[in-house]
Amino acid sequence: MATPPDTAAPTGPPLFPAGALRDHQRLAEMRASGAAHAVDFGGWEHGWLLTGYDATVGALVDPRLRGVPPQARAPQGGSGELLDEEDLFFLPDPQHERLRRLIGGRLTPRRVAELAPRIQHEIDTLLDGLPPGEPVDFVTEFAVPLPVAVLCELLGVPPDGRRYVGDYMLGWLAESGAGVPVTESAGVALAGYLTALIAERRARPRTDLISAMTSVGTDDDILSAVRLLLIAGHHPVTRLLGGGLEVLLRHRSLWTRLAAEPELSRTTVEELLRLITPAMLATRYSQAGAELNGEPLAEGTPVHCALVAANRDPGPFPAPDTFDPDRPAHPHLAFGLGHKHCLGAALARSQMRMVIDTMAARFPRMALTSTPAGAPDGHPFVVLDPTAAGE
Ligand code: HEM
Repeated sequence: MATPPDTAAPTGPPLFPAGALRDHQRLAEMRASGAAHAVDFGGWEHGWLLTGYDATVGALVDPRLRGVPPQARAPQGGSGELLDEEDLFFLPDPQHERLRRLIGGRLTPRRVAELAPRIQHEIDTLLDGLPPGEPVDFVTEFAVPLPVAVLCELLGVPPDGRRYVGDYMLGWLAESGAGVPVTESAGVALAGYLTALIAERRARPRTDLISAMTSVGTDDDILSAVRLLLIAGHHPVTRLLGGGLEVLLRHRSLWTRLAAEPELSRTTVEELLRLITPAMLATRYSQAGAELNGEPLAEGTPVHCALVAANRDPGPFPAPDTFDPDRPAHPHLAFGLGHKHCLGAALARSQMRMVIDTMAARFPRMALTSTPAGAPDGHPFVVLDPTAAGE
């Protein structure tokens, strides 16, 4: 007789869907009830979710918790094998450290400062193209294209290649609703385009980041670095711009102050980074000897650090759900910490600050307006200058 199928429900930790990271109430309740929570994150191995500030800092700087899952794939040295975009985030330590040195040694505060006039040009050009008196979908018209343009400027993608590179990035980020999902062959084609660009810059270097990387890196490493920057440097900036403008326009008196006190945008950007935390999660995997709360962790166990919850821990950030650019300085974790700390933090801060300074000065009366039916979630609509309506 055939054995009947096993209908017993699997036991394990509760399912924690990724969307729940936006549920601040639920995260606050979890934080209040303990430092670490066993979760089934859906699609990952069962692991732990950290929601408090101290526990998150501890995990991010713990040398036995690394950003490499047990099944991480290393490119076979020199084979030119093309890794998936996702794999670039989870490289084994030696490759990861090499790429970090390659990027970090050249994406310096000085390079970011030198890029400022070109970022300003991109901001002005995008704003000049918007109708001042009509409702504008700020995310589609500004927050999506700006970081693409800035990354192309940084890397030195020539003007006739920007549309192509931008379409690929937006397609890869199809969840934003901005494009069609890219195919594997499109990824291979983009890698071909970038490989040719790297060869061109190696032969005739200019002032851009790709040229700077050719003096120290192999073609394979530069290609991985460029692809990593294109993926990592876009979506969180879009989220910060869209979410940040919405918060600012709900605080009218601050908008007026920003136009008069340019220094204020520095603390404003930090508070927006804390409150919005555009990259919500940083995951680590335990290596031999790792512990959590004094208990040993099996090797390869995921430890998910909910940066979005740590940044609203009432310990370091009293009244954490309140937007308060005047709050006493305390380091937030929006850019992560430790061996994977964001390599584009200076560029992201600079972009956001320049956008706020420019918009508050140019459009002191800018206001939110109603969002049309069918508009995507999280897309605030604005009128840049309500006095220009009906012109
Ligand atoms: C508001 C904007 C941004 C936010 C909130 C943000 C946040 C983060 C966070 C939290 C991480 C660490 C993830 C982890 O620990 O697992 C990270 C990594 C990274 N970010 Fe950003 N980022 C932003 C903008 C940028 C920009 C503009 C660039 C590039 C120009 C960039 C490049 C990178 C890279 C390359 C990494 C990977 C570092 C590594 O694997 O070691 N980011 N970012």
